Amino acid sequence: MFNVAVVGATGAVGSTMLRVLEERGFPVSELRPLASARSAGKSIEFLGKDFAVRELSNTSFEGIDIALFSAGGPRSRSFAPAAVEAGAVVIDNSSAYRMDPDVPLVVPEVNEDAIREHQGIIANPNCVAAPLVVALKPIADAVGLERVVLSSYQAVSGTGVAAVEELRAQAAGYLAGDEPAPQVYPHPIAFNVLPHIDVFDETGYTGEERKVIAETQKMLGMPDLRVSATCVRVPVLNSHSASVHIETTEPITAERARTLLMAAPGVALRDEPSANVYPLPRDATGVDEVLIGRIRNDLSHPNGLVLWYSSDNLRKGAATNAVQIAESLVTKGWL
Ligand SMILES: NC(=O)c1ccc[n+]([C@@H]2O[C@H](COP(=O)([O-])OP(=O)(O)OC[C@H]3O[C@@H](n4cnc5c(N)ncnc54)[C@H](OP(=O)(O)O)[C@@H]3O)[C@@H](O)[C@H]2O)c1
Repeated sequence: MFNVAVVGATGAVGSTMLRVLEERGFPVSELRPLASARSAGKSIEFLGKDFAVRELSNTSFEGIDIALFSAGGPRSRSFAPAAVEAGAVVIDNSSAYRMDPDVPLVVPEVNEDAIREHQGIIANPNCVAAPLVVALKPIADAVGLERVVLSSYQAVSGTGVAAVEELRAQAAGYLAGDEPAPQVYPHPIAFNVLPHIDVFDETGYTGEERKVIAETQKMLGMPDLRVSATCVRVPVLNSHSASVHIETTEPITAERARTLLMAAPGVALRDEPSANVYPLPRDATGVDEVLIGRIRNDLSHPNGLVLWYSSDNLRKGAATNAVQIAESLVTKGWL
């Protein structure tokens, strides 16, 4: 049994972590929910018992074996070293350490062995990159990859609880003729589509797009893989979707890709377009697997394959993947 701290336990990811730890029967002896001073004393439920949230500090980690961080990059940078110093292994959901060459960035279905090299911190990938590499890995192993072009359709829960409330309030207000002004995003998100996630850099890409590119290359161990991404926020409450164009080294039929993906860990196929069966964000919500469908050969390229996925960003894109990493640490003896 292990002592587990959840940093950001009141947030969208942190509260999902508590549910995933429960569902998967992770062997927790002591649970320590941590958040900001705003939430100190607030009660959260875990396995039918109430726990008081404590304020995060440098002394929060005494006796903790595993610390699951999901309270934003600044908190990870400030407090993860203290957690490691106190003897915990940190699994970090923020982007603070993902591209650090000394920190493994892991999706267990893809590169579980990288966990073994950890020096106290293991990074959990971006919520678009995680399902993307689950879909790409079986294709890469079978026929090689040359280039990947992704366009995402990302839910507001990816921004956190405040954005979920903003979409709900704007949608209701818009229909009633009294729409509240946007606060979380630069434009209204209700009945709209925003081609803007994170900050723009000098290349014209956003931070989110650069994360998808760099993290995909790192997790697949293919630093020179050509990847491009356009990340778009859509008025969906939960679960991110993406259209993915893949150029392979050897040609592959859609049928073979379907067979490979059907057998791949972490994938659930939803691919019967004639029966209106394809991945939908509402169907992906609450599901740990990445839903994949619309698998077809690209009519514009002899080695081209196209697919569509929907994946719960709070689960495979965050909490489930983090708990899977914790399970690997425990079952493989890598803690
Ligand atoms: N949402 C996703 O799909 C997703 C996916 C992958 C990774 N992530 C990453 O996970 C992290 C959390 O995201 P989220 O969507 O869960 O955000 P969120 O819903 O806004 O929750 C943020 C959490 O961080 C805590 N927090 C904020 N400031 C703090 C401080 N100064 N000290 C201690 N705790 C503090 C909050 O506590 P209070 O309630 O006390 O304010 C809350 O528990 C971010 O780094 C995000 O990039 C999110």
